[in-house]
Amino acid sequence: MSTPDTGNGAGTGATVPVAVRDASADMGSSSSSSSSSSSFLNLSHLADNPMFAGGIGLAGLGAAAALARRGVVSGAQVLRRRLLVNVEISRRDPSYPWVLAWLSLPRESQGFLASRLTRIHNLSVATATASATANASRHHHHDSGSAADGPTHASFFLQPGYGRHLIRHRAGVYIAVNREKQSSSNMTTGEPHETVTLTALWAHRHVFEEVFLEARALAARANEGKTAVYSVQGMGWGPLGEPRKKRPLGSVILDEGVKEAVVADVRDFLDRQQWYVDRGIPYRRGYLLYGPPGSGKTSFIQALAGELDYSLAMINLSEVGVTDDKLAMLLMNVPRRSILLLEDADAAFVNRRQRDPDGYSGGTVTFSGLLNALDGVAAGEERIAFLTTNHIDRLDPALIRPGRVDMMLRIGEATRYQAAQMWGRFYGDVDADGTGCARFLARLEELGLIEGPRPEDVPRRHTSTAAIQGLFLFNKSDMEGAIRMAEGLIPRQFEPETPGPEATIRTKA
Ligand SMILES: Nc1ncnc2c1ncn2[C@@H]1O[C@H](COP(=O)(O)OP(=O)(O)OP(=O)(O)O)[C@@H](O)[C@H]1O
Ligand SMILES: [Mg+2]
Repeated sequence: MSTPDTGNGAGTGATVPVAVRDASADMGSSSSSSSSSSSFLNLSHLADNPMFAGGIGLAGLGAAAALARRGVVSGAQVLRRRLLVNVEISRRDPSYPWVLAWLSLPRESQGFLASRLTRIHNLSVATATASATANASRHHHHDSGSAADGPTHASFFLQPGYGRHLIRHRAGVYIAVNREKQSSSNMTTGEPHETVTLTALWAHRHVFEEVFLEARALAARANEGKTAVYSVQGMGWGPLGEPRKKRPLGSVILDEGVKEAVVADVRDFLDRQQWYVDRGIPYRRGYLLYGPPGSGKTSFIQALAGELDYSLAMINLSEVGVTDDKLAMLLMNVPRRSILLLEDADAAFVNRRQRDPDGYSGGTVTFSGLLNALDGVAAGEERIAFLTTNHIDRLDPALIRPGRVDMMLRIGEATRYQAAQMWGRFYGDVDADGTGCARFLARLEELGLIEGPRPEDVPRRHTSTAAIQGLFLFNKSDMEGAIRMAEGLIPRQFEPETPGPEATIRTKA
């Protein structure tokens, strides 16, 4: 605090600071304190000195002013605390993006002064890009380059930028907004921490309820018909891009009855929460989908999430950096209303110390780590988990126990049924009488790609639904082309690399 030193005249000795300190400690009684202290300090004659009396007066005035200023400041704070309500929303909170979106809603025109007051001069932009040919499985490793394939749609959302803004919620109700970047940052991602503080009058405190409900409804409306996908980001879950359009379940063609069986099983599980609770069984169900690449495992789970109106939370177990601890934590905090998808479950069965010749260790999740994470104690919440693998032979039987994996399904090579169904989806309109389809299936038989009679010199081969989709995509409106090129469905044999001197050096490790 500022001790006024106006009275510190030369030669006044040690007595003056006492008086001054008294005065500033209790500004109302500066005169009484000087008179009371006169008894032992004998200051009464000093007070006769006009110079000195003036000094005390000035000191008192200075102290009073300082105090008054402090009083006003703290009074304003008290008033603010009493009359205003602040709601702080941290960036980590799920409602953060909703509230920002809500803030950027256009508001109806208002009076001259109000519109001047509530104009937002600091904006920030949030850009969402989506491939025009939004492929439902864009997140998957196969088509990581698909963004370059088609034109990209970009939408720009203007949001209030950093700083203070005032918005008119409705007539007479204003909300002050303060969006701030905190100096601390997220340790794992390095992103600066951010908060938005909404301030309203105490009398209007109930508008916050409205604000959050409106923001929530707005977000729900924006995500209608979309599937949000979460993936591992830093130490937790983060949205993987914008929510994408739901993939219709009908667009994934599995062998006859398979899809229906899984969907019925999941729906039955979802209807039975009380049944599980009554019996003290953790409310969980696990599915294992296995089979060759490109058979539609990932696509099916994504479509199923859309069908059930769930989000998808995916972890690739072969990803480097997913450790046992992290996996356990992730599984304990699966985003609400999400299907958990653990891709490449076999990765956990590769021993931690066993490395491939090129030094790649195949992730760091161990088998026991995966089991422990799946058994984690954070029960109560429902959990639907899907595990996928291309190498069922590498899995351990311990994984297949109720609660971990309740249902195992092979999603295999394309069958006649699937080929016919996919044909129908692509060429159904140009091939109304189905003769094209019959010729296509006959051609596949001839090539040994589906079951049926085949020439003796042709071996039984297999192809994937992904390959059939690729063929049809190449011949979009040309079914004759698809029949002509059906030979392309025969899996290509890749020559094994001839071990050269380089290879020998590499295997040394
Ligand atoms: N049964 C199917 N029905 C419809 N589309 C399919 C089917 N199988 C594959 N596809 C298409 O092939 C592509 C790859 O499929 P997906 O990623 O689902 O295969 P996957 O079984 O998960 O493969 P991997 O085992 O390599 O992960 C996707 O574009 C998908 O649309
Ligand atoms: Mg997959």
